[in-house]
Amino acid sequence: MSNKMWGGRFGESPDAIMEEINASVGFDKRFAPQDIRGSKAHARMLAKQGIIASADADQIVAGLEAIEGEIEAGSFEFSRALEDIHMNIEARLKENIGEPAGRLHTARSRNDQVATDFKLYMRDTVDHLDTQLRALQEALIAKADAHAETVMPGFTHLQTAQPVTFGHHCLAYVEMTARDRGRFADARKRLNESPLGSAALAGTSFPIDRQMTAEALGFDGPTRNSLDAVSDRDFVLETLSAAAITAVHLSRLAEELVIWVTPGFNFVRLPDSLTTGSSIMPQKKNPDAAELVRAKTGRVIGGLTTLLVVMKGLPLAYSKDMQEDKEAAFDALDALSLCIAAMTAMVARLEVNEENMRDAAAKGFSTATDLADWLVRALGLPFRDAHHVTGTLVAKAEAKGCDLDGLTLAEMQEVEPRITDEVYGVLGIDNSVKSRTSFGGTAPDNVRAMAAYWQKALIQETKS
Ligand code: ARG
Repeated sequence: MSNKMWGGRFGESPDAIMEEINASVGFDKRFAPQDIRGSKAHARMLAKQGIIASADADQIVAGLEAIEGEIEAGSFEFSRALEDIHMNIEARLKENIGEPAGRLHTARSRNDQVATDFKLYMRDTVDHLDTQLRALQEALIAKADAHAETVMPGFTHLQTAQPVTFGHHCLAYVEMTARDRGRFADARKRLNESPLGSAALAGTSFPIDRQMTAEALGFDGPTRNSLDAVSDRDFVLETLSAAAITAVHLSRLAEELVIWVTPGFNFVRLPDSLTTGSSIMPQKKNPDAAELVRAKTGRVIGGLTTLLVVMKGLPLAYSKDMQEDKEAAFDALDALSLCIAAMTAMVARLEVNEENMRDAAAKGFSTATDLADWLVRALGLPFRDAHHVTGTLVAKAEAKGCDLDGLTLAEMQEVEPRITDEVYGVLGIDNSVKSRTSFGGTAPDNVRAMAAYWQKALIQETKS
């Protein structure tokens, strides 16, 4: 039997391979709640406009609600022969309520239907991700506040650069996450227009009220161009771009955790419950969750790349290529959601080995810049000369096998005779971080103030 929904002109049923390549219900069944919501809004609008009878609309709405119940209960039978979620639901509606079911698709096409479903789905997903990202920020802020004074080595090139505080490091990720949330919010704002009523591509001759369906579905308004509305997926691309950048941020933190838990660093401990063991090496405690956050970033970036490639050569309006927008997006956004949850758990529960961080921060001539700055401040040297003098002192200490504060005053004066023992004051790591009071700097007071700033910002966000 040819397809019930569009089979009128067809003499034979789709080949098995046609059915297999064509079907999307295996993955777009996720859209069931959105599809039903959209159909209910559409049916009510059709009735209000006198396009279908009110009694038919009532039956359609009640029938759709019953189907929603079946799907929730797991008793709904999805059929691949019916291609996609839209036709599965409509066919079931026909079984349940008969003739009025056939009136639901008036002034509508699967093209505007799927775009509407996907936008509704994206909106929910973005909201969920935002809640998750906020929780991650809260965990990071709490750690930052607790470790405003905990000194660790700051790195550039992964080489010890200058001492920073662990709190400052945590707040760096709070900033990144805030921008990530901003990108999602921005994408959400732009995507919140209703394609419903654009029909196949040209609009419809029926006197529909697109404002009404847009409002019923929580959209800011209807889209202004029917061709655009059914044929662009930039709202998915934009969300996936935000997702990819977020995943990259998470991946960098994941990489740091992986480094920090190695015996060589031993800066933090992850709880047993968020690590795994080795089946052969009994001593191992592996940061698999962090490694997988790092790895799953590939999926997220991959999803974005997939859809960019799918879209790049498509003429207006809809092409079936666009059915390939879903799996990649679902996979990417599911992966991101899991990564945020895992990262939040790790951040909340990690314990800092303060001693090890301090010891590492004191090594590697981390206060050399403080020394150079002192030469500028106390002796009036131009910074370039101070840099050179300090470099010579570092070489001297390296040859002696000590840190900068291991050089005697006499040894220092061999390089620059005007150095006094006041210099030792700037060589300690605590003084170093305390001195970084410039706005945005790592000084503990700054870190506490920034943690408070973010705490307040999140509270205000809740209120507004
Ligand atoms: N399952 C399709 C998709 O996801 C729905 C739209 C199909 N439209 C069409 N004219 N074949 O894109």
